[in-house]
Amino acid sequence: MSGSSDPRLTVGLIGLGNMGAPVAERILAAGFPLVVYNRTPEKARSFETRGAVVAETPQDVVRQSDIVLTSLADDSALEDVAAVVLGSARAGTILADMSTVSPAASARVAALADAASVSYLRAPVSGNPSVVRAGNLTFMVSGPPHAFERAEHVIRAIGPTIHYLGEEEEARVVKLAVNLMIAGLAQLMSEALVLGESAGVARATLLDVMGNSAAGAPFVKYKTEPLLRNDFSATFTTALMEKDVDLVLDVAADANVELPLAGAIKLLLRAAIDGGYADQDFMALFLQLRKAAGLDAAGRLSRMGV
Ligand SMILES: NC(=O)c1ccc[n+]([C@@H]2O[C@H](COP(=O)([O-])OP(=O)(O)OC[C@H]3O[C@@H](n4cnc5c(N)ncnc54)[C@H](OP(=O)(O)O)[C@@H]3O)[C@@H](O)[C@H]2O)c1
Repeated sequence: MSGSSDPRLTVGLIGLGNMGAPVAERILAAGFPLVVYNRTPEKARSFETRGAVVAETPQDVVRQSDIVLTSLADDSALEDVAAVVLGSARAGTILADMSTVSPAASARVAALADAASVSYLRAPVSGNPSVVRAGNLTFMVSGPPHAFERAEHVIRAIGPTIHYLGEEEEARVVKLAVNLMIAGLAQLMSEALVLGESAGVARATLLDVMGNSAAGAPFVKYKTEPLLRNDFSATFTTALMEKDVDLVLDVAADANVELPLAGAIKLLLRAAIDGGYADQDFMALFLQLRKAAGLDAAGRLSRMGV
């Protein structure tokens, strides 16, 4: 615990959703003392037997931790939780938030943190739960450099690639820029698959060639196996991807720049959500496109057996 003879920082983690749960696993595997809290307590229970302390409230996490990580759904979740954390934190505590949120909400949290003498790191991530478990998560970090120095070994235990980007909201903006690309890739990949499959080429063939082409980003490879299994269970929900593209459009509007494709992707995500795919993986953009084309949802993998 904080102030114990263990030279390692005690880590608190609030939010054990799709991302938070594997993050907790990695922190435990790296040997850090860990205190966890989740709004829905059932998700926290299994961590008790794995060596974490399960706190009853966010305040309990803060009291027992040197660094508090948060992995929360959206702006309002972060602002609600940060208000509680910062209301009970000791001076010198570090708050490092891994959620994808707007630069505006993050700046409001920064002002509260400043008033509470808490060092606040913006630490959004790029990856998905399998990427976390494989130890390949990428962090974009901004905030006070001294806090980054203290927290770096904890962050590195979660994911090895860290881009330190500046002292304010830089990490928030870069994360949104990357996620805009991911959302666009998902839609373009869906269109390319529907094009190829409707002309009789097997999905496996298309994915193999795509993955080895100039467009074969890591994302194409992550999605290949689930697409071959027709598995659209969420690593990242369509609802959360819509949230991210909304944040992109807000930042663009504030900066007075037009992003035509981002606007179109927002409408496509909304159509997928209205089509019943809110809680499925955002790769359900593919299912929505197939549905719109009058094809059955999953489709045969090949019409011509190629
Ligand atoms: N999944 C990915 O691949 C991925 C990749 C990169 C970044 N992200 C970002 O990481 C964050 C977490 O994503 P996720 O996929 O783990 O989402 P998720 O599975 O939906 O988990 C969301 C977490 O936020 C908590 N939460 C929501 N509203 C809350 C509130 N008002 N007060 C307290 N806790 C609240 C939830 O608690 P309950 O369990 O009680 O609902 C849950 O622990 C999001 O910002 C997402 O955009 C996700």
